[in-house]
Amino acid sequence: MMENAQQAEPKQIAVIPGDGIGKEVTPQAVKAVQASGAEVVFTTFDWSADRYLRDGTTVPAGGLSMLKQEYDSVLLGAMGDPRVPSNAHAKDILLGMRFEMDLYANVRPVKLLDESLCPLKAARREDVDFVVIRENTEGPYVQMGGVFKKGTADEVAIQEDVNTFKGVDRILRYAFEYARKTGRTEVVMTDKSNVMAYAHGIWKRLFQSVGEEYPEIQKRHMFVDALCMEMVRCPAQFEVIVANNMFGDIITDLGAALQGGLGMAASANIHPGRTSMFEPVHGSAPLLAGKNVANPIGSILSAAMFLEDLGLDKAACKIQQAVYDSVQTRHLTTDVGGTLGTEQAGDWIAERIAAF
Ligand code: NAD
Ligand code: IPM
Ligand code: MN
Repeated sequence: MMENAQQAEPKQIAVIPGDGIGKEVTPQAVKAVQASGAEVVFTTFDWSADRYLRDGTTVPAGGLSMLKQEYDSVLLGAMGDPRVPSNAHAKDILLGMRFEMDLYANVRPVKLLDESLCPLKAARREDVDFVVIRENTEGPYVQMGGVFKKGTADEVAIQEDVNTFKGVDRILRYAFEYARKTGRTEVVMTDKSNVMAYAHGIWKRLFQSVGEEYPEIQKRHMFVDALCMEMVRCPAQFEVIVANNMFGDIITDLGAALQGGLGMAASANIHPGRTSMFEPVHGSAPLLAGKNVANPIGSILSAAMFLEDLGLDKAACKIQQAVYDSVQTRHLTTDVGGTLGTEQAGDWIAERIAAF
């Protein structure tokens, strides 16, 4: 984050559209922010599969330090391309940002904007309104492990689930602080400590001890299999869910479905006080790419999250209201029952924002 930025100076935003539908939805989010009148300057970077296939570059030398030092937020589209089966560029760029910038809190709201979007029978809007706080720097994602005798009948494949005191402690604190700040009354911590006694036992112990520092917040533990069942059976019971990296990934696609699909879901990858990164929950959806059909709302709402993170609440509110209005008036893409293309849906939202 820029150290000496004056209050009046515009915020610097790095934009990385990436691959597939990332290249189509991200410009809609940029357009929405520009329409909001927020004092921001966008700079676009071509880090992507195209660049990797062209010259072998994933993150250019010094790229992550540059983001940290010269930009206030990063807006990412999506990473992943069938032409790069190793996913090498996505690991370096996406996981590179999460790890190297230490963006340890992945905040993924699950908020239904209209009951018609929810696949659950008789779900009302207020029944689906919670936030998943996903640990974002540990677990199997650290790539600790290896393969022995690869490709033989004796192959051994091991990938460790890494959980540190520092990592678990800080994400639990983040979840409790988030609940306190937003007036939520309960935090649910989910794990599989009945089987992963060592790797997830630490979560259970720290949830108990850290939780004692937040006496006004109720604490509930659920095994992740039961949690998935409850997310579908009765989502209204949840306010804040805190999960490890892998479980947080999985349950937020389920959460996205409760909101109307992956096209609706936004996220923030946060290190409090530092340059953070914002992206829709969905990926590059190669089958939809280049067709102007992808839903831009996940990306647009992610932009509203960076505006909030930078204290530009008025602009964020305008964007959230315009997205809500687009849902209520059915100015939507086809995945959520509309008839508009990506760009047309983005235009409608931007025009609405500009009219506020
Ligand atoms: P995906 O999220 O890209 O797409 C799954 C399905 O969800 C799509 O086929 C489509 O039906 C629907 N969908 C997703 N986004 C949509 C949108 N904006 N509008 C309408 N429908 C939408 O997941 P995948 O197919 O499993 O992964 C494709 C690639 O994306 C892979 O390379 C994967 O690794 C990558 N990925 C990247 C990120 C990221 O960059 N943060 C996240 C998830 C997946
Ligand atoms: C997500 C994605 C990523 C993850 C992949 C693309 C590495 O699924 O952001 O949800 O697993 O974190
Ligand atoms: Mn995911």
